[in-house]
Amino acid sequence: MSFSVVILAAGKGTRMKSEKPKVLHTVGNASMLHHVMEVAKRAGAEETVIVAGHQADLISESAKLKSPDARIVIQEKQLGTAHAVKQAERLLGKCGKDILILYGDVPFIKSETISRLIKARKTCDIAVLGFDTKHPGMYGRLISNGENIIGIVEAKDATQEQLNISLCNSGVILGRADLIFDLIAKIGRDNASKEFYLTDCIELATKAGFKSSLVLCDEKETTGVNSLEELARAEELFQKAKRIEFMEKGVQLNSPETVFFSFDTEIGKGTVIEQNVVIAPAVTIEENATVRAFSHLEGCRIFPNSKIGPYARIRPGSIVSEGANIGNFVEVKKSIVGSKSKINHLSYIGDAKIGEKVNVGAGTITCNYDGVSKHNTDIEDGAFIGSNTMLVAPVKVGKSSVTASGSVITKDVPDEALAFARSRQENKIGMGKKLMDFLRKQKNKS
Ligand code: UD1
Ligand code: CA
Repeated sequence: MSFSVVILAAGKGTRMKSEKPKVLHTVGNASMLHHVMEVAKRAGAEETVIVAGHQADLISESAKLKSPDARIVIQEKQLGTAHAVKQAERLLGKCGKDILILYGDVPFIKSETISRLIKARKTCDIAVLGFDTKHPGMYGRLISNGENIIGIVEAKDATQEQLNISLCNSGVILGRADLIFDLIAKIGRDNASKEFYLTDCIELATKAGFKSSLVLCDEKETTGVNSLEELARAEELFQKAKRIEFMEKGVQLNSPETVFFSFDTEIGKGTVIEQNVVIAPAVTIEENATVRAFSHLEGCRIFPNSKIGPYARIRPGSIVSEGANIGNFVEVKKSIVGSKSKINHLSYIGDAKIGEKVNVGAGTITCNYDGVSKHNTDIEDGAFIGSNTMLVAPVKVGKSSVTASGSVITKDVPDEALAFARSRQENKIGMGKKLMDFLRKQKNKS
């Protein structure tokens, strides 16, 4: 069955106490809005309409970044969830399809859950996604007649008896567009919040003879975020789920609770990740690699059998090839490190192409920035870069060549050459002792 999605994202998110629109806050380094858009896409939505209001331009910009064909409608005043959905009527009222309503601040719904809703919709008019919880708090309560859902009561408007109901509303519903918009037209705002509640459409549907069925999902999926504290809890849930997902796939996490992933992290089987590792967006780590403690990775691809860290930083645009070693206090940015090459200690490698079996000595720096532009460094196969070499880019170091320790390399080094770019040492016999004696005497006088 084809369907369109409406994502509600106009709310101010007052309880977030933040300037940023609520749905642009991130979980696992992707905004909640992107999480919800992704699930809509995976579930097979034909089109996605986002209802924006508060800072709509920022929401629109972010939505288009994720999916250029996402459509945005504006809800000028946030008069409630029913009023928000109404804004999409112009685009979807006559689509003749189902609409699925998702909330921008409920980021963890799974696409399989949406599939279950779609299945349930075949035998009812509106499918409602709910969950059973020990802590119903401020969630809307689902009123059932034992068979179907006949209404939803917001916590603020509920009687004490209704508050005891543990069956809660996730906010997600699926039904025919024309039916939902017809019901919305009848919703009033005679309630504690003086808002048009979308949830009222269930009672109206029941009264008009339509059937609403409940689909249950895990409470974790429907975690809504209304405050920074809840955002932190959502992040915790996200990380826990990722850790389990990776361990089940054969990724070894020595101390799972200290490793942090992003929404798009990919890791192959047999890879070991030690303690306190942070993986920012766009990272792929292939099979059997090792990421040692206290490393930070972002926008990079790590090939099999390579070793990263401890204390390494791999920045966007980097590729670490098979069997390469990146050691402690090494920063790699927008560089390719060839297979079996080693950069073991205290180095900065930026805008560089490093061939195979290259040894980069401790303290080597690619001086890639002249204050205006970035320049490339090319180090070819088998080169040996002596410790504390400054490679002033643009520069090329040829195959199997050597740079002497402490060199400042400003000219290309031919293949197999030894580049020696530092002043020669002079030993003045006896002068060391003389100097110290003189300095001590001076100090004693004063
Ligand atoms: C809503 C549900 C509640 C459910 C809970 C699940 C209603 C009336 N209540 O309550 O039953 O248990 O979600 O998390 O629907 N929004 C707009 N425009 C508005 C108002 C809200 O776009 O005028 C958006 C918000 O940005 C948010 C979503 O709709 O993304 C939900 O609104 P929110 O105010 O957070 O509803 P809850 O009180 O959480
Ligand atoms: Ca909410």
